[in-house]
Amino acid sequence: DMGAHDTYMHKEISEQADAVDRVLRGRIDDRFSTVHLGGLNLDPREARKIRQVKILGCGTSYHAGQIGAGLIEELARIPADSEPASEFRYRNPVVDPDTLYIAVSQSGETYDVLAAVQELKRKGARVLGVVNVVGSAIARETDGGVYVHAGPEVCVVSTKCFTNTVVAFALLALHLGRIRDLSVADGKRIIAGLRKLPEQITEILAREDEIAKLAQQYTDARSMLFIGRVRGYPVAREASLKLKEVSYIHAEAYPASELKHGPLALIEPAMPTVAIVPDDDLLEKNRAALEEIKARSGRILAVAHQEQEKADHTIVVPKNEDELDPILMGIPLQLLAYHTALALGRDIDKPRNLAKSVTVE
Ligand code: F6R
Repeated sequence: DMGAHDTYMHKEISEQADAVDRVLRGRIDDRFSTVHLGGLNLDPREARKIRQVKILGCGTSYHAGQIGAGLIEELARIPADSEPASEFRYRNPVVDPDTLYIAVSQSGETYDVLAAVQELKRKGARVLGVVNVVGSAIARETDGGVYVHAGPEVCVVSTKCFTNTVVAFALLALHLGRIRDLSVADGKRIIAGLRKLPEQITEILAREDEIAKLAQQYTDARSMLFIGRVRGYPVAREASLKLKEVSYIHAEAYPASELKHGPLALIEPAMPTVAIVPDDDLLEKNRAALEEIKARSGRILAVAHQEQEKADHTIVVPKNEDELDPILMGIPLQLLAYHTALALGRDIDKPRNLAKSVTVE
């Protein structure tokens, strides 16, 4: 039931404060400044032996895994990365006993992810799941994991599940961090940040009218560039995927640092840029990128914690802890994708050629 919403995508975007509240509920342990993850099935002794984390997923789940990898590196100081499950399974990967593998899937049924899990298990690896659908194939095949608790997601294009998956990774990263070398003070700081998320999401969603108006300015774009650095880069990648899926406007994401190595050649008024500009230690670097784009007459939409002078428009989002900022910065861009698609009259809940769960190779 869509209730008052015109599409499931809109309904699901709007539900995110409650969804995040659900993934946090009952898991925070203030006494030890950590979180309890009941289904993880990973004892502390084993958790301390992990030397690397490899995250596998497809599409939006792969992007959530990229933010997850960043969180695990930052909070638990374990080298981590995310790779498309299909690439992983076809390159005869070296399976290492000290690596923790994590399969990410909203549906829990994506065939490439399931096949990667089965191959890993056959080779004796430990595989956890970060899954939304309880009791799904991937949830059953993995040794344990974290449920995302986003609730049912009907729109083919994933929004609330992406956000909740990233929060689930923040919980996992905090848990691993507090078993390893993350201090009590940092644990407290991250917990306080997590608790702020639902309210901050509500604040962002309250700016929908502004974003809807903004979307009107981009319906004529044939292509758009999305840029970010480090924490902001996977946010840019996911925002770019969202825009192309629902609006059919071509979009490409690039690390802002790579602009001068190629994509600057594309900059002109007909090629707008969306820039993720968090107020963290890379702020000045990001500002320099905006300057380079402006100097070439590029249009810029910034998502930032304060107005960006070089941008034509800034969507200002509330600041959280640096590590948790990526969770919030993608949300206005879900609304941008939605309103651009709406203005172009697209079939928002069922984009052409796509299916909600891809159970074939
Ligand atoms: C994007 C989207 C797809 C899915 C991908 C994986 O909006 O919905 O890219 O994220 O097909 O699906 P799950 O997460 O069910 O494994």
